[in-house]
Amino acid sequence: MKFFIDTANLDQIKEAQDLGVLDGVTTNPSLMAKEGITGAQNIKDHYVKICELVEGDVSAEVISTDFDGMVKEGEALADLHPQIVVKIPMIKDGIKALKYFSDNGIKTNCTLVFSAGQALLAAKAGATYVSPFIGRLDDVSTDGLALIEKIRLIYDNYGYETQILAASIRHTMHVIECAEIGADVMTGPLSSILGLLNHPLTDIGLEKFLADYRKGNS
Ligand code: E4P
Repeated sequence: MKFFIDTANLDQIKEAQDLGVLDGVTTNPSLMAKEGITGAQNIKDHYVKICELVEGDVSAEVISTDFDGMVKEGEALADLHPQIVVKIPMIKDGIKALKYFSDNGIKTNCTLVFSAGQALLAAKAGATYVSPFIGRLDDVSTDGLALIEKIRLIYDNYGYETQILAASIRHTMHVIECAEIGADVMTGPLSSILGLLNHPLTDIGLEKFLADYRKGNS
């Protein structure tokens, strides 16, 4: 399972990268705004900084909602750095743009996916990644993980190569259950990755090992 971090915060990206388990980064316009990154050129510069920090794919989202705009913007984003993946919203022109980029060898991430039908369309259009938002589904009393299961089944039925990127991860159990289901990638905040480390028996066990060592060597 690939681990992506879902943030535009350079310190958090670096911390995850230094841990040695990071496979990529996802961003969106809200995450950029949260870091105070505004203006087209600043946003582009920030994408390049992120690419220089990590080795894997970095999703950069288009703002346009029409086919021509998405193609122009997506091509400019893809030109910024070889690690850039163009993030395209799940709308009608988005499907056309996914097909265009797929035909032209540019990696894509289809975002704002909330149903199996949308995921099927994204795969047919040749998306590299599909991003079902499981946390936002859970927020409206709908089972986000059940959607990941459905998409896994559909993609396996037909051998679609589009990777399931479980997005809007909120906590460690989302990560673990996505791994059980067989999501190809998860993207979440740093806390969802670091939280996987925690177990009280590890802390208690380590404390005892160190105390016993100290007793034997004092
Ligand atoms: C995915 O690429 C999105 O950036 C993200 O996972 C959305 O998560 P949120 O629902 O926590 O905003």
